[in-house]
Amino acid sequence: MSNVEERIPALKTKFPSMGTTIFTVMSALATEKGAVNLGQGFPDFDCDPRLIDAVTDAMKQGLNQYPPMTGVPALRAAVAAKIESMYGHSYDPVTEVTITAGATQAIITAVLAVVRPGDEVIVLEPCYDSYVPNIELAGGIVVRVPLTPGTFRPDFDKIAAAISTRTRAILVNSPHNPSGTVWSREDMLKLQELLAPTDVLLISDEVYEHMVFDGQQHQSAARFPGLASRAFIVSSFGKTYHVTGWKIGYVAAPEPLSAEFRKVHRFNVFTVNTPMQHGLAAYMADPQPYLQLPAFYAAKRDLFREGLKRTKFKILPSEGTYFQCVDISQVSDLHEAEFCKWLTSEIGVAAIPLSAFYGDAFDQRVVRFCFAKKQETLHKALDRLAKL
Ligand SMILES: Cc1ncc(COP(=O)(O)O)c(C=O)c1O
Repeated sequence: MSNVEERIPALKTKFPSMGTTIFTVMSALATEKGAVNLGQGFPDFDCDPRLIDAVTDAMKQGLNQYPPMTGVPALRAAVAAKIESMYGHSYDPVTEVTITAGATQAIITAVLAVVRPGDEVIVLEPCYDSYVPNIELAGGIVVRVPLTPGTFRPDFDKIAAAISTRTRAILVNSPHNPSGTVWSREDMLKLQELLAPTDVLLISDEVYEHMVFDGQQHQSAARFPGLASRAFIVSSFGKTYHVTGWKIGYVAAPEPLSAEFRKVHRFNVFTVNTPMQHGLAAYMADPQPYLQLPAFYAAKRDLFREGLKRTKFKILPSEGTYFQCVDISQVSDLHEAEFCKWLTSEIGVAAIPLSAFYGDAFDQRVVRFCFAKKQETLHKALDRLAKL
């Protein structure tokens, strides 16, 4: 018997202000209240059975051990071929494409690879919730620049004013979560012009690249040589193929950037699961699933927007992604976050307040719905919302 005291050593948190994410809070409330969950962004329908078969085949063939660190060669080749056919930029699949455990890991790995303590990194708010903690973890300084409230378009004067000699990178996300805006060719040209005289790297979060509507084109950074040469381009198979739970994505970047990326990747994830990579590689031989995605999601968006006309919400544009934002001013005086709780509890539909995507919880009376749902789910939600 020893007299050793069992004591958990005191720990100073690295994230003093981090609480439970709003997505978890709203999903839990939706479950408790039996609400239709249009909050968190994931499909409530299954993926193509051919994709399941392709993964199952890979497992049955015994492809169940560690793959190469950078990803299964066939999948890297398929990614490079897709980028070249869609955006006209050729990446070497051997040295410039890396398969990741979802876009989330791709982004944090890119940040950890390039950001040093004291470096500034620009984020455009509202922004995806992982960006800020990622930068903080690297010891970087977060420089927040607002997208224009109301339209969510980039304000290049504000972005230019935020760039300093200490700026290491800028994080850009188009098509944009949560607003559904899509950067135009002109926007990307302006960004290219702005960054040209600088050493600022671009982390381009393009996870919704295949969800751009109404005949618009996705303006990948890969299309713009002056951006591609400084960019980590991030995408997510989870979004494109309705398999968000698989957590698999990729990064494409010029060789010197990829080399640095891989130094971190090697020690924070090493490899990504093998059979899914083989399954995805086989499935990608047919481009139709991603080429048809805009029409697939535009139909859901249109159904949802049509139904929303029965409410007093002001329906904002949704040019891309699977999100639809609405202005709640005519419906309620509550703050966005309180409104979302009320909507979930009393009306039975969960939504996410845009304030969740701002560091200072900026409240502009706008909430986000996810329409990546079966028709019957959308109809059920719309019938409930019609009471508003
Ligand atoms: C803008 C944005 N970036 C990254 C991600 C993360 O993607 P993944 O599930 O592949 O990690 C998401 C998921 O919601 C997202 O909306």
